[in-house]
Amino acid sequence: MHALSLLVAASVAVAAPARKPQTPAVTNIQVGPRPFWLVDQMEDSPLKTELAACSEKPIRHAPFFSISHRGGPLQFPEHSREGLYAGARMGAGVLECDVAFTSDRQLVCRHSQCDLHTTTNILLIPELAAKCTTPFEPATADSSATAKCCTSDITHDEFLSLCAKMDSSNPDATTAEEYQYGGPEWRTALYDNCATTIDHKTYIEITQSLGLQFTPELKTPEVEMPFQGNYTQEIYAQQLIDEYKAAGIPSSRVWPQSFLEDDILYWVQAEPAFGKQAVYLDPRVDTAAGYEVAVASMTDLYNQGVRIMAPPIFALLNASADGEIVPSSYATAAKNAGLDIITWSLERSGPLEPAAAEGEYYISTIADVITGDGDMYRIVDALARKVGVKAIFSDWPATVTYYANCLGFH
Ligand SMILES: *[C@@H]1O[C@H](CO)[C@@H](O)[C@H](O)[C@H]1NC(C)=O
Ligand SMILES: *[C@@H]1O[C@H](CO)[C@@H](O)[C@H](O)[C@H]1NC(C)=O
Repeated sequence: MHALSLLVAASVAVAAPARKPQTPAVTNIQVGPRPFWLVDQMEDSPLKTELAACSEKPIRHAPFFSISHRGGPLQFPEHSREGLYAGARMGAGVLECDVAFTSDRQLVCRHSQCDLHTTTNILLIPELAAKCTTPFEPATADSSATAKCCTSDITHDEFLSLCAKMDSSNPDATTAEEYQYGGPEWRTALYDNCATTIDHKTYIEITQSLGLQFTPELKTPEVEMPFQGNYTQEIYAQQLIDEYKAAGIPSSRVWPQSFLEDDILYWVQAEPAFGKQAVYLDPRVDTAAGYEVAVASMTDLYNQGVRIMAPPIFALLNASADGEIVPSSYATAAKNAGLDIITWSLERSGPLEPAAAEGEYYISTIADVITGDGDMYRIVDALARKVGVKAIFSDWPATVTYYANCLGFH
């Protein structure tokens, strides 16, 4: 095993990795000990009793309800082949690829166009590090280490020669080696032995071979568009859809996402079969004023053909005076307008700590009723049974898969 990983690491360092053969569908779904530990952490309640009663029930894929967010990035390097398989093994029914483009306009899986310095080993490969938008600068007495490396800085083949690693960096680093890992401590570098970077076409092949569904996200470009003078946002959005058509994937299994309303409306108009499954990742909720605008916009969005809203978890939940987690005004408005709701991302915050909850993006609106990790399934249950979400993105899909199996969400 060790020799094999050394071999993989060595070959990746010199050349693009050879395509491995297709692996058969994952059928032996494993959720591991974490869901059981989370149930154990709960205070006594009817929900705890329901969830505990499922402990010996066989686990299957949750065909839609459990979405793997970037693979399994609580532990695995995100957007790697290994992360995708981890998500599938944990029973996710839908796998995600965040899509960004390279200098030769190929689509690859990366959470943002310019995160290669923290999610790959690019800074350790001098000839590629030299191509970064901002090459590595060591920390000094008064400034943190910096670097900025974008998929659009390098070619598709160069991208595939990189190793994926846990998204992390050390601001105090004085060398590129030191820069590679800087926590948080509840993530891990355990699987950082050169995980395999993948392009969008390979992601389609893997997900198809597993018999699962697709949710590609068109990442907002961090370079000026049109890129290279003529690569427009519409060409980019169309290229994403075209790769499904070329692979013969029916639109019914593809859930394209974007934070840009214009991308959603482009797909609704230019590719209606894909557009009716487009997922609008709603960035407006990040400010109080934007939240109100979003709440007021639901019917208008529906009339323009939008069908699925996907705000972050905090935007869907509220704390009631008697300590319950209840639907927010956003959740109610979306439902009333006939819109479906998907949300993100469970297990992204690390431990649920009451003292820190207010400052924690995903749970800020329910900070008053958070007591610890025993609340993880209270959050999932409020989303599933009170808000009525169709699916939940998670950094560790096992948690949602266990809930979905237990309580019959598909
Ligand atoms: C885009 O511009 C490049 C030069 O930057 C040119 O080689 C290419 O043919 C152009 N493509 C289209 C579709 O116009
Ligand atoms: C949250 O609940 C409080 C108290 O009921 C209410 O005043 C407030 O408008 C709610 N906020 C949202 C965003 O639903």
